[in-house]
Amino acid sequence: MNEPCGFGTVTPKITEELALILGAGSVSSDGEKIAAYSHDEVAERFWDHPYRAEVLVFPESTEQVAAILRLANERRIPVTPRGAGTGLSGGAVPACGGILLSLERMNRILDVDTDNLCMTVEPGVITAEITRAARKAGLLYAGDPCSGDASFIGGNVAENAGGNKVIKYGPTGSSVMALEVVLADGSVTWFGGKRRKDVTGYDFVHLMVGSEGTLGVITKIVLKLLPLPAFGVDLLIPFPTVESAIRFVPRIALEGRVVPAAIELVDHHSLSQAEKFLNTRLPFDQAAAHLIVQLEGNDREVVADETERVGKLALEKDALEVFVADNRSSRDKLWKARKSVAEAIMAYYKNYAKEDIVVPTDKVPELLFSVDALCRKWDLEAANYGHVGDGNIHVNLLMADDRPHWHEEMEKVRTELYATVKELGGTLSGEHGIGLKRKAYLPQFLDKAQLELMQRVKLAFDPKGILNPGKLVFWDKNGEGHEA
Ligand code: LAC
Ligand code: ZN
Repeated sequence: MNEPCGFGTVTPKITEELALILGAGSVSSDGEKIAAYSHDEVAERFWDHPYRAEVLVFPESTEQVAAILRLANERRIPVTPRGAGTGLSGGAVPACGGILLSLERMNRILDVDTDNLCMTVEPGVITAEITRAARKAGLLYAGDPCSGDASFIGGNVAENAGGNKVIKYGPTGSSVMALEVVLADGSVTWFGGKRRKDVTGYDFVHLMVGSEGTLGVITKIVLKLLPLPAFGVDLLIPFPTVESAIRFVPRIALEGRVVPAAIELVDHHSLSQAEKFLNTRLPFDQAAAHLIVQLEGNDREVVADETERVGKLALEKDALEVFVADNRSSRDKLWKARKSVAEAIMAYYKNYAKEDIVVPTDKVPELLFSVDALCRKWDLEAANYGHVGDGNIHVNLLMADDRPHWHEEMEKVRTELYATVKELGGTLSGEHGIGLKRKAYLPQFLDKAQLELMQRVKLAFDPKGILNPGKLVFWDKNGEGHEA
């Protein structure tokens, strides 16, 4: 199978045609502006060279997106869709130049449907606005990525963002009921509908979710809503060792008989970075690890009972203390610290590997022992935190010093780490996606049959390969096998 190749370039004539579709104010050829939009949160020094789009466009409607894709498909111009740029995989980096399609002006909440318990939105709505709009109607939108104050829902869907409440509600995809999608040739279709069940054909909704902009451009999203729990508390539980914290996690369901909304781990090094960054302190911050356990429900007594049960159990299982945050300000302080860890690490370290691996939950202790061993071998620091209830740990391998060949060294460390992850039955990314950052490692996790199926799916949706080229799919020179 050959990669559709021979991409066209964005000539002045094409820029003019784009201006006719969108209006001149919605098309930019300004180098600085293009540079500012040509990356996400992955620093450009992680690539061999910076990637730049040739033109940046800001459509405001499905019809405009369709017209852009019709033009791009005819002339074989790459199109890279982009949300708010909060991604952590280089997914929105225009790896082959072409058109960078910002969805920031498609930012309307179209309806909050309280009869069908769902909401229809455009892809450029900030995730936190969706949460607020649902809350205003007494409802819950369950997606809760740490970047929710800035990320766009379209990006959350394209990457199948996870976040803090996956253990109870699933990742973004679990909340997606339907998608309006512009296909590569400019045709517009709906996958799914305002329906709770649907086995009428393939499940294209969930093929689109997590497809990183390689199969179509999402222009409308129908999101499932739930009743808003009336009461919630967060338990902050320090443990003497990371292992004791992790070993406590399955006891919560098994002996505590509760499915919390969140079970998060923050180890000492991660917490101290966040504390420094925010100039704040959390209780017992010298402990090796903290768990944050969020409980919620509609009956105050029931939530209080569960809180007591989980707290008591934690103290029986080595916890040093149990702090209960049950008012807005203490809960906000806790979550602000948790949600700042990633940013803090990026602020204090220049050279790092910021990982998103997932292993079966019972393998998390083994994974972290291997991380310790890797750090000793390669003289690195580690900061491990994340969604321990999902087995999705953000392992951060940090170089305290500036080494001339840091990048090559990190690649070797990552290769070793991934071999262990694979052995433990784990995988490469749980919620940040593959993007440019992890593509070379994909064949370590997906076999030949799967990589070939991905090629075929890509060709079925996008025969000329114009949608976010350079991502997810491998093509070789002879049209067979896979290049890493
Ligand atoms: C977090 C982001 C990095 O969990 O996924 O903090
Ligand atoms: Zn995360």
